[in-house]
Amino acid sequence: MPTMKKRIPDFSKQLKAGTKKSHTAAENTKFVASYLRGVVSEENYKQLIANFYFIYHAMETEVERLKEDDFVGPMRLNGLPRQKALAEDCEYFWGKDWRENIYPTEATQQYINRIKEVAHDNPKLLIGHHYTRYMGDLSGGVILGNITKNALNLKDKGLAFYDFPEITDKKGFKESYRSVLDNFIPVDQSDVNAIIVEANYAFRLNMYMFEEIQGDATKGFLATACGYVNSRIQYFLKVAGVI
Ligand code: HEM
Repeated sequence: MPTMKKRIPDFSKQLKAGTKKSHTAAENTKFVASYLRGVVSEENYKQLIANFYFIYHAMETEVERLKEDDFVGPMRLNGLPRQKALAEDCEYFWGKDWRENIYPTEATQQYINRIKEVAHDNPKLLIGHHYTRYMGDLSGGVILGNITKNALNLKDKGLAFYDFPEITDKKGFKESYRSVLDNFIPVDQSDVNAIIVEANYAFRLNMYMFEEIQGDATKGFLATACGYVNSRIQYFLKVAGVI
Protein backbone atom coordinates (compact mmCIF):
# COMPACT_ATOMS: atom_id res chain seq x y z
CA MET A 1 0.00 0.00 0.00
CA PRO A 2 1.47 3.39 -0.90
CA THR A 3 2.23 5.53 2.14
CA MET A 4 -0.06 8.53 2.23
CA LYS A 5 1.85 11.76 2.61
CA LYS A 6 0.74 14.09 5.35
CA ARG A 7 -0.98 17.35 4.58
CA ILE A 8 0.56 20.45 6.07
CA PRO A 9 -2.39 22.28 7.67
CA ASP A 10 -0.60 25.62 7.77
CA PHE A 11 0.85 25.35 4.27
CA SER A 12 -0.92 28.56 3.17
CA LYS A 13 0.30 30.46 6.25
CA GLN A 14 3.87 29.29 5.69
CA LEU A 15 3.66 30.33 2.04
CA LYS A 16 2.41 33.78 2.94
CA ALA A 17 5.02 34.27 5.68
CA GLY A 18 7.79 32.79 3.53
CA THR A 19 7.17 35.25 0.68
CA LYS A 20 6.48 38.35 2.76
CA LYS A 21 9.89 39.92 2.11
CA SER A 22 9.58 39.21 -1.61
CA HIS A 23 6.16 40.86 -1.64
CA THR A 24 7.57 44.03 -0.12
CA ALA A 25 10.48 43.95 -2.58
CA ALA A 26 8.09 43.52 -5.54
CA GLU A 27 5.93 46.42 -4.36
CA ASN A 28 9.06 48.55 -4.16
CA THR A 29 10.38 47.95 -7.67
CA LYS A 30 10.54 51.22 -9.56
CA PHE A 31 7.93 50.07 -12.05
CA VAL A 32 5.37 48.94 -9.44
CA ALA A 33 6.02 51.94 -7.17
CA SER A 34 5.41 54.42 -10.02
CA TYR A 35 2.45 52.36 -11.16
CA LEU A 36 0.95 52.68 -7.67
CA ARG A 37 1.31 56.46 -7.99
CA GLY A 38 -0.68 56.22 -11.22
CA VAL A 39 2.36 56.71 -13.43
CA VAL A 40 2.19 54.16 -16.21
CA SER A 41 2.50 54.74 -19.93
CA GLU A 42 0.33 52.96 -22.46
CA GLU A 43 3.51 51.69 -24.13
CA ASN A 44 4.73 50.00 -20.94
CA TYR A 45 1.32 48.69 -20.02
CA LYS A 46 0.85 47.23 -23.50
CA GLN A 47 4.08 45.26 -23.10
CA LEU A 48 3.11 44.14 -19.59
CA ILE A 49 -0.17 42.71 -20.88
CA ALA A 50 1.63 40.90 -23.72
CA ASN A 51 4.13 39.47 -21.21
CA PHE A 52 1.31 38.30 -18.99
CA TYR A 53 -0.38 36.66 -21.96
CA PHE A 54 2.71 34.49 -22.55
CA ILE A 55 3.20 33.74 -18.85
CA TYR A 56 -0.40 32.69 -18.20
CA HIS A 57 -0.53 30.78 -21.47
CA ALA A 58 2.47 28.73 -20.30
CA MET A 59 1.17 28.27 -16.76
CA GLU A 60 -2.38 27.38 -17.76
CA THR A 61 -1.24 24.97 -20.49
CA GLU A 62 0.91 23.15 -17.93
CA VAL A 63 -1.83 23.11 -15.26
CA GLU A 64 -4.23 21.58 -17.81
CA ARG A 65 -1.66 19.01 -18.89
CA LEU A 66 -1.12 18.10 -15.23
CA LYS A 67 -4.80 17.87 -14.32
CA GLU A 68 -4.36 14.30 -13.03
CA ASP A 69 -1.31 15.21 -10.98
CA ASP A 70 -1.85 14.85 -7.19
CA PHE A 71 -0.22 18.19 -6.49
CA VAL A 72 -1.26 20.35 -9.43
CA GLY A 73 -4.70 18.81 -10.16
CA PRO A 74 -6.45 20.26 -7.06
CA MET A 75 -5.20 23.75 -8.00
CA ARG A 76 -7.34 23.79 -11.17
CA LEU A 77 -9.98 26.09 -9.76
CA ASN A 78 -12.82 27.47 -11.85
CA GLY A 79 -12.75 31.15 -12.55
CA LEU A 80 -8.99 31.62 -12.21
CA PRO A 81 -7.61 31.18 -15.76
CA ARG A 82 -6.60 34.52 -17.27
CA GLN A 83 -5.60 33.58 -20.79
CA LYS A 84 -8.93 34.47 -22.42
CA ALA A 85 -9.12 37.80 -20.59
CA LEU A 86 -5.54 38.60 -21.59
CA ALA A 87 -6.30 37.74 -25.23
CA GLU A 88 -9.12 40.34 -25.10
CA ASP A 89 -6.83 42.94 -23.56
CA CYS A 90 -4.08 42.17 -26.09
CA GLU A 91 -6.58 42.75 -28.90
CA TYR A 92 -7.57 46.06 -27.32
CA PHE A 93 -3.99 47.32 -26.89
CA TRP A 94 -2.29 45.68 -29.89
CA GLY A 95 -5.16 45.60 -32.41
CA LYS A 96 -6.72 42.83 -34.48
CA ASP A 97 -3.36 41.33 -35.52
CA TRP A 98 -2.15 41.13 -31.92
CA ARG A 99 -1.15 37.47 -32.24
CA GLU A 100 1.38 38.34 -34.95
CA ASN A 101 2.68 41.41 -33.16
CA ILE A 102 3.11 40.57 -29.49
CA TYR A 103 6.39 39.15 -28.23
CA PRO A 104 7.73 38.11 -24.82
CA THR A 105 10.58 40.22 -23.47
CA GLU A 106 13.80 38.49 -22.38
CA ALA A 107 12.82 38.35 -18.70
CA THR A 108 9.40 37.01 -19.70
CA GLN A 109 11.04 34.25 -21.72
CA GLN A 110 13.14 33.34 -18.67
CA TYR A 111 9.94 33.23 -16.60
CA ILE A 112 8.16 31.00 -19.17
CA ASN A 113 11.17 28.68 -19.39
CA ARG A 114 11.15 28.24 -15.62
CA ILE A 115 7.42 27.47 -15.54
CA LYS A 116 7.88 24.80 -18.21
CA GLU A 117 10.99 23.41 -16.55
CA VAL A 118 9.37 22.88 -13.15
CA ALA A 119 6.14 21.60 -14.71
CA HIS A 120 8.15 18.85 -16.41
CA ASP A 121 10.82 18.12 -13.81
CA ASN A 122 9.01 18.63 -10.50
CA PRO A 123 5.34 19.60 -10.99
CA LYS A 124 4.62 20.35 -7.35
CA LEU A 125 6.85 23.43 -7.67
CA LEU A 126 4.34 24.85 -10.14
CA ILE A 127 2.21 25.60 -7.07
CA GLY A 128 4.72 28.33 -6.16
CA HIS A 129 4.07 30.03 -9.50
CA HIS A 130 0.32 29.49 -9.33
CA TYR A 131 0.12 31.02 -5.86
CA THR A 132 2.33 34.01 -6.67
CA ARG A 133 0.28 35.11 -9.65
CA TYR A 134 -3.32 34.18 -8.89
CA MET A 135 -3.37 35.11 -5.20
CA GLY A 136 -1.68 38.39 -6.18
CA ASP A 137 -4.28 39.02 -8.89
CA LEU A 138 -7.09 38.43 -6.43
CA SER A 139 -5.49 40.79 -3.88
CA GLY A 140 -3.51 43.79 -5.14
CA GLY A 141 -5.04 43.23 -8.58
CA VAL A 142 -8.17 45.11 -7.55
CA ILE A 143 -6.15 48.24 -6.74
CA LEU A 144 -4.09 47.88 -9.91
CA GLY A 145 -7.21 47.58 -12.06
CA ASN A 146 -8.51 50.92 -10.79
CA ILE A 147 -5.12 52.59 -11.19
CA THR A 148 -4.84 51.30 -14.77
CA LYS A 149 -8.35 52.50 -15.59
CA ASN A 150 -7.58 56.04 -14.42
CA ALA A 151 -3.99 56.25 -15.66
CA LEU A 152 -4.82 55.10 -19.19
CA ASN A 153 -8.25 56.67 -19.26
CA LEU A 154 -9.96 53.41 -20.10
CA LYS A 155 -13.71 53.12 -20.38
CA ASP A 156 -15.10 49.60 -20.58
CA LYS A 157 -12.37 47.85 -22.57
CA GLY A 158 -8.79 46.84 -21.87
CA LEU A 159 -9.38 45.77 -18.26
CA ALA A 160 -10.53 42.16 -18.68
CA PHE A 161 -7.42 40.91 -16.87
CA TYR A 162 -8.72 42.30 -13.55
CA ASP A 163 -12.22 40.97 -14.01
CA PHE A 164 -13.04 37.58 -12.52
CA PRO A 165 -16.70 37.18 -13.51
CA GLU A 166 -16.97 33.76 -11.88
CA ILE A 167 -15.42 34.93 -8.61
CA THR A 168 -17.88 37.34 -7.04
CA ASP A 169 -16.49 37.00 -3.51
CA LYS A 170 -12.72 37.37 -3.81
CA LYS A 171 -12.10 37.19 -0.07
CA GLY A 172 -14.10 33.95 0.22
CA PHE A 173 -12.38 32.53 -2.83
CA LYS A 174 -8.95 33.24 -1.34
CA GLU A 175 -10.04 31.37 1.79
CA SER A 176 -11.02 28.38 -0.37
CA TYR A 177 -7.70 28.60 -2.19
CA ARG A 178 -5.86 28.47 1.15
CA SER A 179 -8.03 25.56 2.23
CA VAL A 180 -7.07 23.62 -0.91
CA LEU A 181 -3.41 24.20 -0.08
CA ASP A 182 -3.87 23.17 3.55
CA ASN A 183 -6.12 20.14 3.05
CA PHE A 184 -5.85 18.75 -0.43
CA ILE A 185 -2.23 18.88 -1.50
CA PRO A 186 -0.30 15.81 -0.32
CA VAL A 187 2.88 17.66 0.62
CA ASP A 188 5.35 17.07 3.42
CA GLN A 189 7.40 19.79 5.08
CA SER A 190 10.32 19.45 2.69
CA ASP A 191 7.92 19.88 -0.27
CA VAL A 192 6.51 22.99 1.39
CA ASN A 193 10.02 24.39 1.85
CA ALA A 194 10.82 23.77 -1.81
CA ILE A 195 7.54 25.40 -2.94
CA ILE A 196 8.29 28.47 -0.81
CA VAL A 197 11.73 28.74 -2.44
CA GLU A 198 10.07 28.48 -5.87
CA ALA A 199 7.41 31.07 -4.98
CA ASN A 200 10.17 33.48 -3.97
CA TYR A 201 11.80 32.82 -7.32
CA ALA A 202 8.46 33.51 -9.03
CA PHE A 203 8.37 36.90 -7.26
CA ARG A 204 11.91 37.58 -8.48
CA LEU A 205 10.97 36.64 -12.04
CA ASN A 206 8.10 39.13 -11.83
CA MET A 207 10.50 41.76 -10.55
CA TYR A 208 12.98 41.13 -13.40
CA MET A 209 10.12 41.56 -15.83
CA PHE A 210 8.96 44.81 -14.21
CA GLU A 211 12.49 46.18 -14.06
CA GLU A 212 13.04 45.28 -17.69
CA ILE A 213 9.91 47.17 -18.75
CA GLN A 214 11.03 50.18 -16.71
CA GLY A 215 14.56 49.84 -18.12
CA ASP A 216 13.19 49.74 -21.64
CA ALA A 217 11.30 52.93 -20.93
CA THR A 218 14.54 54.56 -19.74
CA LYS A 219 16.34 53.21 -22.81
CA GLY A 220 13.55 54.55 -24.99
CA PHE A 221 13.89 57.95 -23.34
CA LEU A 222 17.69 57.92 -23.72
CA ALA A 223 17.41 56.90 -27.36
CA THR A 224 15.00 59.78 -27.99
CA ALA A 225 17.17 62.21 -26.03
CA CYS A 226 20.36 61.06 -27.82
CA GLY A 227 18.55 61.23 -31.15
CA TYR A 228 17.57 64.82 -30.40
CA VAL A 229 21.09 65.85 -29.30
CA ASN A 230 22.52 64.13 -32.35
CA SER A 231 20.15 65.93 -34.69
CA ARG A 232 21.07 69.30 -33.07
CA ILE A 233 24.80 68.55 -33.51
CA GLN A 234 24.20 67.64 -37.16
CA TYR A 235 22.23 70.88 -37.58
CA PHE A 236 25.00 73.07 -36.10
CA LEU A 237 27.69 71.27 -38.10
CA LYS A 238 25.65 71.90 -41.26
CA VAL A 239 25.09 75.57 -40.39
CA ALA A 240 28.81 75.90 -39.67
CA GLY A 241 29.49 74.35 -43.05
CA VAL A 242 31.44 71.46 -41.54
CA ILE A 243 29.26 68.80 -43.15
C1 HEM B 1 1.35 46.51 -7.06
C2 HEM B 1 1.50 46.48 -5.82
C3 HEM B 1 0.83 45.49 -4.95
C4 HEM B 1 -0.14 45.72 -4.07
C5 HEM B 1 -0.79 47.05 -3.76
C6 HEM B 1 -0.47 44.47 -3.45
C7 HEM B 1 -1.41 44.31 -2.46
C8 HEM B 1 -1.70 43.15 -1.82
C9 HEM B 1 -2.59 43.02 -0.68
C10 HEM B 1 -3.37 44.15 -0.05
C11 HEM B 1 -2.57 41.73 -0.30
C12 HEM B 1 -3.26 41.16 0.92
C13 HEM B 1 -4.47 40.37 0.61
C14 HEM B 1 -4.93 39.50 1.77
O1 HEM B 1 -4.24 39.33 2.77
O2 HEM B 1 -6.02 38.96 1.62
C15 HEM B 1 -1.70 41.04 -1.23
C16 HEM B 1 -1.46 39.71 -1.21
C17 HEM B 1 -0.71 39.06 -2.15
N1 HEM B 1 0.03 39.63 -3.16
FE1 HEM B 1 0.20 41.54 -3.54
N2 HEM B 1 0.29 43.50 -4.00
C18 HEM B 1 1.10 44.07 -4.92
C19 HEM B 1 2.03 43.46 -5.71
C20 HEM B 1 2.17 42.13 -5.81
C21 HEM B 1 3.03 41.46 -6.74
C22 HEM B 1 3.92 42.15 -7.76
C23 HEM B 1 2.87 40.13 -6.53
C24 HEM B 1 3.51 38.98 -7.22
C25 HEM B 1 3.82 38.96 -8.48
C26 HEM B 1 1.92 39.97 -5.45
C27 HEM B 1 1.51 38.77 -4.92
C28 HEM B 1 0.67 38.64 -3.83
C29 HEM B 1 0.31 37.36 -3.24
C30 HEM B 1 0.77 36.00 -3.69
C31 HEM B 1 -0.57 37.63 -2.19
C32 HEM B 1 -1.27 36.63 -1.29
C33 HEM B 1 -0.69 36.57 0.12
C34 HEM B 1 -1.44 35.54 0.92
O3 HEM B 1 -2.50 35.87 1.45
O4 HEM B 1 -0.97 34.39 0.97
N3 HEM B 1 1.52 41.19 -5.04
N4 HEM B 1 -1.18 41.93 -2.13
